[in-house]
Amino acid sequence: MTVNEFPVWDRKRYAMEDNPVIGIDLGTSYCCVAIFRNIDDIEIVPNDLGHRTTPSYVAFTSEGDCLVGDAAKKHSMTNPKEAIFEVKRLMGQSFNDAIVQQDAKKWPFTVSSGPRGEVVLNVPEAPAGRQSSFRPEEISTLLLKKMKEIAEDFNCGRTIKDAVITVPAYFSHSQRKATMAAGVGAGLNVLRLMSEPTAAALAYGHQRLIRRGPVEKNILVFDLGGGTFDVSIVTVKAGPDEDCSFVVRATAGDSHLGGSDIDHRLLQHVTKRFESQVHGVDLLTNHKILPRLKQAVVDAKHVLSGKGVTVANVNLDYREDVLSMKLGRLELEELNKDLFLRCVMIVEQALSDAKMGKDDISEVVLAGGSTRIPMVQEMLTAFFGKAPIKSVNPDEVVAFGAAVQAGLLARSDKCAEASISVHDVTSASVGLICSGMESKFGVMAVVIPRDSSLPATGSRKYVLEDGEKAVTAWLYEGERALCRKNRLLGELTMDDFMGGEAPQEAAWKVAVKIDAHGILHATLEALAHHKNIGRKVETTVT
Ligand SMILES: Nc1ncnc2c1ncn2[C@@H]1O[C@H](COP(=O)(O)OP(=O)(O)OP(=O)(O)O)[C@@H](O)[C@H]1O
Ligand SMILES: [Mg+2]
Repeated sequence: MTVNEFPVWDRKRYAMEDNPVIGIDLGTSYCCVAIFRNIDDIEIVPNDLGHRTTPSYVAFTSEGDCLVGDAAKKHSMTNPKEAIFEVKRLMGQSFNDAIVQQDAKKWPFTVSSGPRGEVVLNVPEAPAGRQSSFRPEEISTLLLKKMKEIAEDFNCGRTIKDAVITVPAYFSHSQRKATMAAGVGAGLNVLRLMSEPTAAALAYGHQRLIRRGPVEKNILVFDLGGGTFDVSIVTVKAGPDEDCSFVVRATAGDSHLGGSDIDHRLLQHVTKRFESQVHGVDLLTNHKILPRLKQAVVDAKHVLSGKGVTVANVNLDYREDVLSMKLGRLELEELNKDLFLRCVMIVEQALSDAKMGKDDISEVVLAGGSTRIPMVQEMLTAFFGKAPIKSVNPDEVVAFGAAVQAGLLARSDKCAEASISVHDVTSASVGLICSGMESKFGVMAVVIPRDSSLPATGSRKYVLEDGEKAVTAWLYEGERALCRKNRLLGELTMDDFMGGEAPQEAAWKVAVKIDAHGILHATLEALAHHKNIGRKVETTVT
């Protein structure tokens, strides 16, 4: 591309050729990395096998090797117990979370509880006495290291440190913190954790602006990947000068809805059909057969998304035989209809949060491999009365947008402010209850409402009650009125208040900040009637 095709943006302003930065889409099923050298020089980086996405698999072989990516996925076909995958579903979760317990039943690797109730992944011990248990973020670190290496190979072996890593818009604070820890562990300077649909909107906007010039639009990003579903509504405003902004108006989603749920249902269905032919062998618990059956099902699912294809074969090498069945597109749709309908309901929720109607949306942009499913596209076309945009590759669009953001952030760190700005929002309300009478009904006092622009701050002051010497505040996230129905994030406690008759004025305050990465920080401060006025305590979010 030449400068002449760039009427609006000045290449010199964005030049990073000597020190490129990267965007990494750390996906449930696949990772993707894009490199930013200049505003018109952003590329998806192929891995050592030439593939533009890399499976989110890590395998620990009995010989003591650690494989990451394609090699690990291949190894898992014959040694399923030695591989770990879909670890994104475990990031920042507690072992006792119902969703973890439910997922754990589907995986060949074992999951247990660490000393603080955190999730621990167990792999068979290697002869060399290698580590045999890992935190989910340690596995993500290995994936991120691999993506960093892929980019560095592409950059003639020169080190790359600055990166933007994407997370689902619906990731909680603890899931974001775990992702940040994984990035730091991989030796990355994490410029930003960015929401996946926002990255997709930025990629789409970048493509449009480069080709067509000024644009003002409300874009709805529909991102259905391997494990998560997100919707974001983004307003893009661009003027004839260089200024351009991407403002996220609302976001909604489900961090546990994606292709792997579809796979699971298909697997159950196919297994039932094979039951009579395998004479009582439980295919779902047979870890030798299961990976091949799973692959056969996923392959059939992909074939069924092909134009005009309505039937696919599921073939399984079983002992000396090949078991074979036909899977129809209608069957797939019937089995997963409720999941697809749920996606549309979430779209409606995002529209209502953004106070917009369907007609206010100028373009629907698809992200995530599962948006290739024809029924998903048909439902969106019927809902909006127009077909979604297909000019961006749904597997790559998130990494591409993350690289654009990385370039903009690195540039504004190093010289003039970039003229393209991205304003993300919080995906859940954050609120408080305190130990005193004020919270006796357990109603959450919202301090940062959902869809607030990031970074966001909020605070609340409290009075003491007579005789009260110690106070506690509990932080929650969620949309329900009662705290106990929302998710507990952490608590703050302070003692050493004077006791006796309480003053009229507020004696303590809780201040909450959600930073640009979407990570929460909170402090409790003594304002009056305390042995040490001005003392602050901070919370760690769980
Ligand atoms: N042609 C297709 N038809 C149906 N599903 C597909 C097709 N191609 C890919 N998929 C599914 O898309 C999912 C992977 O998509 P993607 O790589 O966007 O997800 P991810 O980024 O790993 O996950 P997430 O964003 O949820 O963390 C897998 O479940 C895969 O089976
Ligand atoms: Mg994804």
